[in-house]
Amino acid sequence: MTFSGFNRLIVASLPYLPKALVGLIARRYVAGETVEEALEVVKRLNEQGFEATLDILGEHVEFPGEASAVADAYVDLYCRIADSGLRSNISLKPTHLGLAIDGQICRESLSRILAAARETDNFLRIDMENSPYTDDTLALYRTCLEQYLRVGLVLQAYLYRSGDDLTNLMSSPLNFRLCKGIYREPPEIAIQDRAAINHNFLILLKQAFEGGAYVAIATHDRPLIAQAEELIRQLNIPPSRFEFQALYGVPMKGKLETLLAAGYKVRIYVPFGEAWYDYSLRRLKENPHLAGYVLKNMFQHRRVH
Ligand code: FDA
Repeated sequence: MTFSGFNRLIVASLPYLPKALVGLIARRYVAGETVEEALEVVKRLNEQGFEATLDILGEHVEFPGEASAVADAYVDLYCRIADSGLRSNISLKPTHLGLAIDGQICRESLSRILAAARETDNFLRIDMENSPYTDDTLALYRTCLEQYLRVGLVLQAYLYRSGDDLTNLMSSPLNFRLCKGIYREPPEIAIQDRAAINHNFLILLKQAFEGGAYVAIATHDRPLIAQAEELIRQLNIPPSRFEFQALYGVPMKGKLETLLAAGYKVRIYVPFGEAWYDYSLRRLKENPHLAGYVLKNMFQHRRVH
């Protein structure tokens, strides 16, 4: 069996493995189950020069009570970040706050979270989920902006609509994260070809820079990062206009440290919480190499100790 065949086999077996074993693999991508564990990870990242954005894992809550509990947890998280003096903002998913149940429930939860962001003078990023929620998420963002300016959202380079969305959003001051897009979307609305998605990523980045937006450039694709850096140089964009972002645990072969050394801001997206299991399975399916890699590390670790 080839190495990649072996990795795929591990990934295919994950749902049948004991949760504790998946937990060992998950440690790479998830900063633990509790706020304390997550803050410890952020502290370490801050010491290394990175900013962070904390995300409580979960999505698609089904009951209003759940959405309210999630909002409580985010309010508490803003206070804990402020008390600890760490450099982290927060990212959240609208369906975790009840968007799939009812827009009003989600708006109420968000409003409480925004009040906590304002009290602690921090920033809130609203993640972008799959296309059935795009319009509602854009509307939510606009409602948030009326309450508090330090809020941002995400645009996905694979969606054909993102160029127009960006144009509309730039009628107000804009801080957005640019990513490729992680959900499976139909060809009628989303570019399918990898190279074409990258091409659109750079078109959107240029449009954003020329339109005056602040951009969080969120990708692990090192050639694409190099092209973004080239564009930054060509357009002479100062570091105060952008940052780079990566997911906690995704191997970057020293690229993030190089970006820091170049004087750029780099923010790590740090997910944590009890819903780590599904998140970890998704991460491993996206990158089957990691399953083999982590397993190898586990056994090396055992041998040493
Ligand atoms: P690409 O897919 O080309 O990956 C480059 C390399 O990194 C490959 O070697 C790949 O295997 C590895 N890699 C990439 N992602 C990995 C992962 N998760 N786990 C393990 N290895 C990985 N999407 C979205 O739709 N809405 C959102 O709100 C966000 N938010 C977000 C925040 C941040 C900080 C990041 C970095 C990404 C997102 N995304 C997202 C996800 C994004 O849309 C995209 O799907 C992934 O980042 C993968 O694409 P890359 O740009 O990294 O390139």
